[in-house]
Amino acid sequence: MKNMLKGLGAVLCVALPILANAAADQTLVQRGAYLARLGDCAACHTAPKGKPFAGGLPMNTPMGRIYVTNITPDAQTGIGGYTEADFARALREGVAKDGHNLYPAMPYPSYAKVSDDDAKALYAFFMHGVAPVRQVNRESDIKWPLSMRWPLRFWNMAFLEKGVYRDKPGKDVAWNRGAYLVQGLGHCGSCHTPRGVAFQESALDESGSAFLSGAVLDGWFASNLTGEHNTGLGRWSDEDLRTFLKTGANRHASAFGAMTSVINNSTQAMNDQDVAAISTYLKSLPPAGGNGAPPYTYDPQATKVSLERPANDAGARVYTAYCMHCHGVDGRGFAPMLAPLAGNPNVLAKDASSLINVTLNGTGDLVINGLPSPFPMPGFAVVLDDRQIADVLSFVRAGWNNGAPALGAAEVAKLRQSTQTAR
Ligand code: HEC
Ligand code: HEC
Ligand code: HEC
Repeated sequence: MKNMLKGLGAVLCVALPILANAAADQTLVQRGAYLARLGDCAACHTAPKGKPFAGGLPMNTPMGRIYVTNITPDAQTGIGGYTEADFARALREGVAKDGHNLYPAMPYPSYAKVSDDDAKALYAFFMHGVAPVRQVNRESDIKWPLSMRWPLRFWNMAFLEKGVYRDKPGKDVAWNRGAYLVQGLGHCGSCHTPRGVAFQESALDESGSAFLSGAVLDGWFASNLTGEHNTGLGRWSDEDLRTFLKTGANRHASAFGAMTSVINNSTQAMNDQDVAAISTYLKSLPPAGGNGAPPYTYDPQATKVSLERPANDAGARVYTAYCMHCHGVDGRGFAPMLAPLAGNPNVLAKDASSLINVTLNGTGDLVINGLPSPFPMPGFAVVLDDRQIADVLSFVRAGWNNGAPALGAAEVAKLRQSTQTAR
């Protein structure tokens, strides 16, 4: 009996640390799963209707189309053979295990800021929290010589800022956490910061004034996120911003286009502290990219008059027939369900890509807490021609004191063509 107890004790002595280890690993894997949400890895690495993280999604780059790779732990076709160091190098330096350089369509210039602890947790998740999937990667459609990857080494020398995020002295915990998330895992700048001649983001943090000042990508204009009062977030309260990130809509605007998958897969899953940190950081960014116009004030008078006599105004005619029953005579819609057009930063922005794209193609894939948006914006590509869309958007951009410039049918034709496959 005594011996048996002793034996049991010995077994427990060996087993308990293993169990404790397993529990610790489980915590690490779960933390990694949350970090993968913050980094929105699924937006690119999971194809629509594809297996989680098995890749295959096509991505358009200025050089041609590439296909996102399999990052499940399958040993042959995924990253099962990666050590933690290999993984951290791919994540932060854009170099795969076999040494080839990744195209910067993988946002490693942002992920470069990810801390060692977070890289470790992400690795644990991809090794132990993701099911291995056997799916061979697809070759890119980029033609030789542009397909050669070694020049990317020089690109990295010029544009990759190595070194994880360091807290900025004099800023509080929330600001630093927000900066870490926005610049790093959230890779917000990969869409919202304008790019330079070599497709590099023209600033990677708030020290550059172009940082998050708005940029066009793939037919959408990713809005100005600085404090600019008309086209940026200057008129948004901290709460407005948190509501947008959690639910995809607020009293000013609603999410559509490329922002939809960010909300669907990433920001709505963030805990309240992280959302608040992001908001604290973004709200601290000084105004950039404005045109010097005074802050927007709502004035419906002139627009109301044209809508009462739309015959004289081609844009007002289209608006009364196709838009008014949803967006209203007052241009205020029914926010947050139905986006307002009066004073909306996307309407006031100089670049009209998002407006044209959303009018042509509509929205419809925002999913909050598992429920698809009950009021999607319908697409008008088959109902309205280029001229009519240019007219109605010019009307909307001038309406309710919005004061944004008119646009021409040629701009609409261009986007109609380039977004053809999306329809
Ligand atoms: C904006 C799209 C995008 C996002 C977001 C993204 N990736 Fe990638 N990733 C890519 C693309 C594209 C490649 C392949 C690039 C190439 O073939 O040159 C890639 C490659 C990789 C590789 C190298 C594997 C290989 O063999 O090609 C790893 C590892 C990786 N990603 C991990 C991650 C992790 C972890 C996250 C989230 C923190 C993430 N990625 C988020 C686009 C993305
Ligand atoms: C894949 C590209 C992409 C990424 C990554 C991205 N965004 Fe966006 N974002 C967009 C586009 C496009 C819009 C414009 C459409 C809209 O208003 O939803 C937008 C709009 C927004 C808006 C609404 C602004 C307005 O004036 O209406 C906010 C706020 C925002 N993004 C915050 C973020 C934050 C914070 C991150 C990083 C965590 C981020 N975005 C990452 C593409 C992106
Ligand atoms: C059936 C109702 C409906 C009709 C008709 C409609 N819209 Fe919309 N529209 C919406 C909804 C809902 C949204 C918000 C999209 C979302 O949340 O997914 C929206 C969003 C928009 C946006 C993006 C604003 C933002 O920042 O969120 C623009 C621009 C727009 N609509 C223009 C138009 C124009 C122009 C017409 C007429 C040609 C029109 N809409 C007709 C319902 C409608």
